[in-house]
Amino acid sequence: MPMKHSTYSVIIVGSGIAGLYAAIKLAQMAKVPDGILLLTKSNLSECNSRYAQGGIVGVLDENKQDSISLHVADTIKAGCGLSDFNVVKFISENSQHAIKDLMACGVDFDRNEQKQLNFTLEGAHSVRRILHVGGDATGYGIEKALVDKITNDNSVSSNITIYEQTLAVELLIDANDSCRGLIAFNTATKEYEALYAPVTVLATGGAGQIYKYTTNPSVTTADGLALGIKAGAEIKDMEFIQFHPTALSLENSDSRFLISESVRGEGAKLVNQNGEYFMQNHPQKDLAPRDVVAREIYDQLAKGNKVFLDASFIGVERFKHRFPNIYKTCLENNIDITKDLIPVSPAAHYCMGGIKTDVNGKTSVNNLYAIGETACTSLHGANRLASNSLLECVVCAYELVNTVSKQNLQSSKIIDETVLNTIKKYTDNDSYSINENNISDLKAKIKNIMWENVGIIRTENSLLSALSEVNKIEQQFINKYKCSSLDEYELRNMVIVAKCIINSALNRKESIGAHYRADSNNYTQAAELTESVNSVNRSKDESHDTKIIA
Ligand code: FAD
Ligand code: SIN
Repeated sequence: MPMKHSTYSVIIVGSGIAGLYAAIKLAQMAKVPDGILLLTKSNLSECNSRYAQGGIVGVLDENKQDSISLHVADTIKAGCGLSDFNVVKFISENSQHAIKDLMACGVDFDRNEQKQLNFTLEGAHSVRRILHVGGDATGYGIEKALVDKITNDNSVSSNITIYEQTLAVELLIDANDSCRGLIAFNTATKEYEALYAPVTVLATGGAGQIYKYTTNPSVTTADGLALGIKAGAEIKDMEFIQFHPTALSLENSDSRFLISESVRGEGAKLVNQNGEYFMQNHPQKDLAPRDVVAREIYDQLAKGNKVFLDASFIGVERFKHRFPNIYKTCLENNIDITKDLIPVSPAAHYCMGGIKTDVNGKTSVNNLYAIGETACTSLHGANRLASNSLLECVVCAYELVNTVSKQNLQSSKIIDETVLNTIKKYTDNDSYSINENNISDLKAKIKNIMWENVGIIRTENSLLSALSEVNKIEQQFINKYKCSSLDEYELRNMVIVAKCIINSALNRKESIGAHYRADSNNYTQAAELTESVNSVNRSKDESHDTKIIA
């Protein structure tokens, strides 16, 4: 079958905040003689980013209660000490620039009547430092501004080609282990295209769809992680999957709409059907780190209790104003927060691990970069501090652009035998196809296996049993290159990444942060780090220097 071949200066996979922002900054800051290609598997605006609610961290000079040192301490404490101090410090120090630049791109953060920025609070933050848009529509607000810029600002859009409904299915790795581009699959026409570039960027988001219950949209099937694993990129921290404590939990529905942590930040409390406010004994109460709250809720549910958010502490008018989308979605589901409690349970939310990178997105494979949720910069450690993800997307996308704009981005069309052999597999006619009905059954099976055995609580037995089940599903893909549909590629990717999560979880014998092994006596959680972090200089730091961490 004939295949189209095209060359670009930079190929970006994914149109979440990381991918869009990187494309915009590249167009503004770099010389791109062959242009930028942004390809995305669904529509330009479909991604995790679009659904972000609570907000984005900004350590801003004008917020006098806050400082870099406080933010660094909170991040490291929530991450149970596994974050990389230098990475945390770098991202925190660059947050002010990131926020100002988002504003310059048209993002309109919420302000009070005096036109000052509003800061909210979420779990494990010691001060209010989270900026939001439209109350609880932060992701939508940022994504919309970036999509507007990329499509309507000619100085940017003239350098960017956009492919929607296009899936990256394999990276082109040459004999020297350098990435030369990728194979793309148009999910509508089913045509393949070989795309070449001196720089390939994965901004493909997370892995929520690997789990039965998730806050993530359907595109999050861990594709970029699977591509990275197949290409031999170094992968890190995949055992750390964050389960958000409070997703709307409705009878007869598997979907899990997020009830933002900032609802608790503004005063809501967790309660069971007996009226017990069961987080009240924890030092940080309802705003303890996510892994801690998720396990407390898990315990309640395991005892047969039901768990709710009691939002009455916020006040009806304030709730409607501050959380308009949550209010509306609850009402659409016959939950009137003016008189009803909101039924909640945990759901898979965020992947702390990913393709190992520096803050500029550089992976262990030459010419291959990864940014956003698909990357692991070691900012988050064992448990991500709320609202640090969007910040990481923006800061690392900017650093990526800073780095690659110093390179010659003229595309070379010379490709070697190894790359040609890969391409040939996609020009052959013998695509492999699993029965379509079987694909959705197998996807559901993986999601169940992961939820039951590799979820909030794991043991060696549960992990080994999951591995054996996923291995059986994998048998269907042995030696197969070409799949015949988007669904089939997604299933293949889910298998690859599920195995990676299970193996990482098997390798880490102790419990720490979001990785809780019920068969281990050795457990570190953020709360236990309180003493060590308290020893850090938490005094107000006018100069915003980072002088902490004993
Ligand atoms: P995404 O936004 O997920 O974008 C990934 C893109 O890659 C998508 O366009 C997808 O279609 C595309 N893609 C994937 N695979 C392929 C492929 N093979 N080929 C082509 N395209 C592909 N974080 C915060 O900091 N603050 C919050 O308030 C917050 N709230 C959240 C609320 C919800 C409901 C969810 C789900 C997450 C929230 N998060 C929040 C986490 C945060 O939204 C994400 O971590 C972040 O948006 C990830 O951005 P990204 O650009 O890396 O990936
Ligand atoms: C939320 O609003 O609770 C999500 C925030 C986040 O995941 O950072």
